[in-house]
Amino acid sequence: MSFSFTGSHILSADQFDLSALTKLFQLAQRMETIANGEVTCNVLQGNILGSCFFEESTRTRWSSEAAFIRLGGSAISMTDPKFSSMFKKKETFEDTIRVLSCYVDAIVIRHPEEGKAAIAAQHSNVPIINGGDGKKEHPTQALLDMFTIQQELGRLNNFAIAMAGDLARGRTVHSLMKLLSLYSDIQFNLIASDSWQMPDELVSQVQGKGHHVIQTDDFAAGIENADIAYMVRPQNERSNGQDSDAPGDNFCLDAKTARKCKKLTAIMHPLPRNEEIPPEVDQLKEAAYFRQAKQVPLKLNFACPLHPRVHPRGFFF
Ligand code: NCD
Repeated sequence: MSFSFTGSHILSADQFDLSALTKLFQLAQRMETIANGEVTCNVLQGNILGSCFFEESTRTRWSSEAAFIRLGGSAISMTDPKFSSMFKKKETFEDTIRVLSCYVDAIVIRHPEEGKAAIAAQHSNVPIINGGDGKKEHPTQALLDMFTIQQELGRLNNFAIAMAGDLARGRTVHSLMKLLSLYSDIQFNLIASDSWQMPDELVSQVQGKGHHVIQTDDFAAGIENADIAYMVRPQNERSNGQDSDAPGDNFCLDAKTARKCKKLTAIMHPLPRNEEIPPEVDQLKEAAYFRQAKQVPLKLNFACPLHPRVHPRGFFF
């Protein structure tokens, strides 16, 4: 039976099947004008989102809260755990979630430890949405990344994706691998040195579903024939102070390299970016990371002085 979103926790990319994703992306497409603020919608009127972030965030917290508010609801947030009773008054994580769930209609949570969203779900009266826990899962970013690939490339089957950087600790690529594995005929070029390579179980999972995987530390060769380039920053906050950037892993997708990639349709990054994508790349029509946050509709008589070419889909610059 297909996964049903109604009233469900969103904890892992493992929960989804093809039919649920297809329905979700059709709905997301129809809601584009609401997301952009062009059309108002009150479907969540009277509902409150609790955002409970035990770890830093820019886009996940703001986008979750903005989405809820755009749909007519409101949001309350805990952005700094130091100001909750957990920090000095020894309130447990479980009690904190239980109390918050009494006041709100859904909770989006981020936590540095793996599995904390699932623990929260056991103690919550309302749906828990995992906005990233530990280095294993970030299902909401992965859903958005899938939608972006579909929008940019026009398909989710039969393409090549290069993922480069800290694939060992970057949780967004872990969840993305799982969702991509549901589709067919994808070439994965996983670019990292051994210490930063993708966990073996995820490589086996996509290979088991018939996809082709290349693991390499040669950035130029790995990215050359990709349709999608997905960059991951060094996740040094997860190093426990033991290691710094792996030597030779600081790949940089600059404008010169991007221009050499003949099939490249979209450059993606979950943000925040560090040095792996320099600001000069933001001007390229392939740069999709800010467009992913706000999709800019094409104005037909608009002549962009930097990039007069219209995106192949005829919708984006
Ligand atoms: C990422 C995260 O925090 O997991 N960003 C995001 O949520 N959109 C990526 C990162 O921190 O590198």
